[in-house]
Amino acid sequence: MTNLRNEGPIGVFDSGLGGLTVLRALHERLPHEDFVYIGDTARTPYGTRGKQTILNYAHACARVLREQRVKLLAIACNTLSAVALSSLDGELFFPVIGALRPGAQAALGVSTGKRIGVLASTRTALADAYPQAFSALDHSARVYVQKSPLLVTLADEGWTEGEVPTLVVREYLKPLLSHSIDTLLLGCSQYPLFSKLIEAELAPHPTPRGRPIAVVDSAQPLAKQVVREIAERQLATERTDPGKLRIVLSDMPEDFTVANRYLGRDLATLQVTAVDL
Ligand code: DGL
Repeated sequence: MTNLRNEGPIGVFDSGLGGLTVLRALHERLPHEDFVYIGDTARTPYGTRGKQTILNYAHACARVLREQRVKLLAIACNTLSAVALSSLDGELFFPVIGALRPGAQAALGVSTGKRIGVLASTRTALADAYPQAFSALDHSARVYVQKSPLLVTLADEGWTEGEVPTLVVREYLKPLLSHSIDTLLLGCSQYPLFSKLIEAELAPHPTPRGRPIAVVDSAQPLAKQVVREIAERQLATERTDPGKLRIVLSDMPEDFTVANRYLGRDLATLQVTAVDL
């Protein structure tokens, strides 16, 4: 007999459109699952706001999250994961998975010297949540967090190549390189769009063992964690046809060019609705 709960969608929650990188990673791994993506595009960015403001936003979104009847929720936004994970977890009646722990685990998994740099939003950096996530896994890791809010703005403008983003990335990497990091974690859902540029900037700075600095983006480890949780909690769909994607936004973008880049496909082919969050 079909388990109705298992046939509900997996939710992906983000402050805006950046979390579509996580939806993309998840859909590739779980092609038969339905997904509903909730992006607070009316109030993005969250990363430059105060803690209480973000908690208020998260609380306002919780009602819509409940209405979607998801079976499990992935918090794609690192800022929300840093500030509001436990509050959302307490308010919702389905499992809630944050981005920080899976990202930290993945970075530790590839780090050769446990000297790890993190690029993140201002609020994620101020919350000190990444150093805490790392130290819960490994006390000996040295973690250096660099706030990099301009990368959010550039990504949301679709400006991810050329002189301006290269200079911005270079400035943000300087303090991290001065700490001789061997691994860099991209601790924001927008940053995978800069992976190639960041790798090129890091190339002239190998680790003392002559290896390139490893770059880990937090979208992939979060997606892997969700796959594990779906299996462990026996929540997998029984369907074998392609799963559906629904996008729920609090403000409808004028065009989907940037969203298409985050998702890697044309949003116009999907069901996109506006909602008051
Ligand atoms: N998506 C957010 C994150 O992953 C950054 C964007 C924002 O500031 O809202 O931290």
